[in-house]
Amino acid sequence: MLMKQLIIAAALLSHQSLLACGFSTEVKSATSAAGAAVNHKQTSKRIAIVGAGAVGSYYGARIWESLRDQPNAEVMFHLRNEHYEYCTKNGIDVSSYHGNFSIQAEELLAYPTTEDMAKSSIGNSDHDYFDWVICSLKSTSLDDVPTLIEPLLSPETRVLVIMNGLIEDDLIQFLRDRRKERGLDGVGCKAIYGGMALICSNRLSPGKIDHSFGGKLVAGVAYSADANSDRGKWCPSDKSAILDLFSPVTPVPFEFEDNLLRGRWWKNVWNLPFSGLSCAMGGITVDKIVNDPGLRRLAYKIIDETIDIANADLLRNGASEKELLGEDTREEMMTLSDGMGAYKTSTMLDYHARKPMEVKYLFRKAVDRAKDLNVPCPHLETAVDMIEYYQRLYDLY
Ligand SMILES: *[C@@H]1O[C@H](CO)[C@@H](O)[C@H](O)[C@H]1NC(C)=O
Repeated sequence: MLMKQLIIAAALLSHQSLLACGFSTEVKSATSAAGAAVNHKQTSKRIAIVGAGAVGSYYGARIWESLRDQPNAEVMFHLRNEHYEYCTKNGIDVSSYHGNFSIQAEELLAYPTTEDMAKSSIGNSDHDYFDWVICSLKSTSLDDVPTLIEPLLSPETRVLVIMNGLIEDDLIQFLRDRRKERGLDGVGCKAIYGGMALICSNRLSPGKIDHSFGGKLVAGVAYSADANSDRGKWCPSDKSAILDLFSPVTPVPFEFEDNLLRGRWWKNVWNLPFSGLSCAMGGITVDKIVNDPGLRRLAYKIIDETIDIANADLLRNGASEKELLGEDTREEMMTLSDGMGAYKTSTMLDYHARKPMEVKYLFRKAVDRAKDLNVPCPHLETAVDMIEYYQRLYDLY
């Protein structure tokens, strides 16, 4: 029920267009010449699940489930404090409307720090680097991510960051800065993907994950070493690597988004007006917004401003006309919200619970981007100013 809108939303992400691979044909043929090595890697996988909250634990446990009978796989979980204490004794239980399952304590590879993870191998794999690091934290902790994942990275490692908002530019910059401090160049991994989880999943208590609706994961490329790009260009190898990871994970509907920036903005066309107003108005449900004539008008104004910013940003980043967002998206988002009932947005829940709110990457970044692009967005900016007032008032950082 909660995530119905996002499921419908995800279906719309499928009309995509392609960003070119930045690589020469020689490099591409070199990649396919290494086919034997790639095949070998498919049966030998090391995967780190970092920030195993409700969303990370769910996808991590599903990946573990898909590889449980593979002798060459190692799926490791980073679990802190009481979560580590509990899960090392009791394992992880997932109750899911796609089928319940558990990771028994004796099967669970749990580590209290990523340093411990990096040092530990149970010897199942023929290589000691991680093929994948799957990182899922609230965007309020984005600046902790580089320190957290650094011990796990190698030039062969692909990173999937399942988080909210316009996070990729900062994340890549933070990773570069972190390496620069050590006199190193680059981002330090093979690729970074941004993931958008269309899921309703809660961690009821340590080791107890409850997945009640949705489950679709949409991801696109933010950084590709093979394409030599941190502006969303990617190579066929980037797409096949993530499809290779998720295609055996049959309970998770996975969709590759060709243009991650477009995917992020598309979600913003819902998030900015509806999460934004639900919070700016003091924590109201979505039905209140769509049923009040003034708030409905205001939501449309924010939708239109968001689409303007999105399209200016997409064009600046080389998108084609047919990739732009338009009237269909505008109506789709309002229709979605009309059908949503008394839905509580995550920002509204955080506001009422007085928990850190995802303001910067979910809301403020969009306004900053608008200013940078000279796109007026007075209604959006007003809503964001109001949200930030609550954030300061209750110290929700
Ligand atoms: C899955 O687990 C939940 C919570 O423990 C339980 O209520 C439900 O009956 C289980 N479903 C199945 C099919 O076993």
